Formats: sequence, structure tokens, C-alpha cells
Amino acid sequence: MQTINLRSNHDLRDEIKAYWSIRAETFDSQPGHEIFSEEERAAWHALFRRHVGEGRGRTAFDLACGTAVVSHLLDDLGYRVTGMDWAEPMLERARAKAKTRGRSIRFLMGDAENTMEPDGTYDVVVNRHLVWTLVDPLAAFQEWHRVLKPGGKLLVIDGDFVNPTLVARIAGKFAAFLARFGKKDGRAQNGPGADLAETHRSILSRVYFADGARAEAVAALLREAGFTSVVIDTDMSAIHRTQRKNFDFLKGLERAAQHRYAICASK
Ligand SMILES: C[S@@+](CC[C@H](N)C(=O)[O-])C[C@H]1O[C@@H](n2cnc3c(N)ncnc32)[C@H](O)[C@@H]1O
Repeated sequence: MQTINLRSNHDLRDEIKAYWSIRAETFDSQPGHEIFSEEERAAWHALFRRHVGEGRGRTAFDLACGTAVVSHLLDDLGYRVTGMDWAEPMLERARAKAKTRGRSIRFLMGDAENTMEPDGTYDVVVNRHLVWTLVDPLAAFQEWHRVLKPGGKLLVIDGDFVNPTLVARIAGKFAAFLARFGKKDGRAQNGPGADLAETHRSILSRVYFADGARAEAVAALLREAGFTSVVIDTDMSAIHRTQRKNFDFLKGLERAAQHRYAICASK
């Protein structure tokens, strides 16, 4: 008799897509996602300049672009940007934002693990906060290698959101304690409410990096996928400093103490 595997990768991908489709509604109201000051924008620009340089008309592919925060940063730097996401509510907001800001960014709906783009299309491939949620990162990295031009660069911006450092743990627990006793609105800064937080936990427990996306492990998989000159940059302090103004003290401290990083690699 034929058996059906009800917990296939397909189901997990569908759950991830549905989760982000709901999160799209409030995504841009949350600090750490959208940018709320010119200082923060400048700090992000500096990170991109440091690793992939000015655009000068070169092509960039922002994978899992969400509401296109990173696409706009690349557009600011003179890249011709294509953003891809698989959640239509995210893309709707991305298109509206580009229209409001008068930017001509191309948006595609698609799976970052299988983009359907031709070989050797892009000078730069970028993604922020995607790798931790990939179902099959090695296949995804091979795909990103494929769509890059020879000599092209990949920039991954991500973090380990599973294993908090001691400082992050203490700050997070204290913030949760204050929220519970009504001293502050934990939901506004921490993201989703209880139901979605449970969905998030459930998804996180089943993705490849369920134990946390440590930079060294991501870098090793990038090498396995064919990338060279893989460099880990954990100095995100300029960005965290500017973001802190939008968080209360404890939340800002918790974020800054997390293992967050950028990884640049070449084809
Ligand atoms: C945390 S959000 C990050 C959005 C954006 N990169 C940013 O930093 O503002 C994660 C995004 O990844 C998208 N996503 C996750 N897995 C994806 C996949 N395999 N293909 C396309 N989009 C994906 C979700 O739909 C969501 O928009």
C-alpha cells in the first residue's frame, strides 16, 4: 500500500509562506525591519559598500525581499535591482513602496531556493534574514551561485536567533518580565502576538538551521556550494547603535548581543 508523508518539505514551505503573508501586514511598522532614520540608512549603506561596493548600474538580486527594505538600499547605491519573494502580501507592499518613493525596482514572485532565473544573470546576490528559515540551504546556495555572473558576489545578512548569548538572554528575560507585568508593550517591539509566535517556534523547530544559523556553519555550506573568498563580518555595531534609538534599552541590548552577521562570498 502506498503511504503519504504528511510532513513533506512542501508542507513546511507552504507554512513558511503563509506565516510571512500574515506578518506582511505589520512588517514595516517594526524597527529592525523597516528603517526609521537616515543614520540607520547610512549605516546599512556602509555595510553594503564595504562588501559589494557601489552599484554603478550593475545588477543586484534581493532574495526574499519582503517589503523591499534591502532592495531600496541597493537602489540608493546605484544597482539595477530585482527583488524576489514568495509571499504576495509582501510583494504588494514592496511594489507600493517603490511607487511611493519613485523607484523602478523589478519584483518577481518566486522561491529563493529555485529562482528560475537564467545562469549568470546578476553581479550581486543579497539576502537579509532568509538563511535561518531555508528548508534546503545547500540547494539554495548552489542556486545563488548559478545565477551569479563569474566574479559576482553574494552577501548574506543573518543571525542565530535560537541560541541567545548570556547578555541577550538576561535582557530578553527581563524585558519579558516587564511586559508581563504591564510595564511596557512587549508585542509592539517583539513582533507577532502569541498565536503567530507559536507558529514561528514550530516552523523554526523544523527548518535546516533549527539549532541556530551560526555564521561558521553557513560559511562552510557556502564553500560546499562552490563559493570562494568567504568572509564573515560580525561588526554590525554601527547598525545596532542607530537601531537602538527605536527600541527600549533592554530590547536594544538584546538585539545587539545576538549573534548577527554578514557573510560575503565570491563566485
Ligand atoms: C524576515 S523576512 C525578511 C524580508 C527582507 N529580506 C528584509 O530583510 O526586510 C523573510 C522573508 O523571506 C521570505 N521567504 C522565506 N523563504 C523564502 C523562499 N524560499 N523564497 C522566497 N521568499 C522566501 C518571506 O516571504 C519573507 O518575506
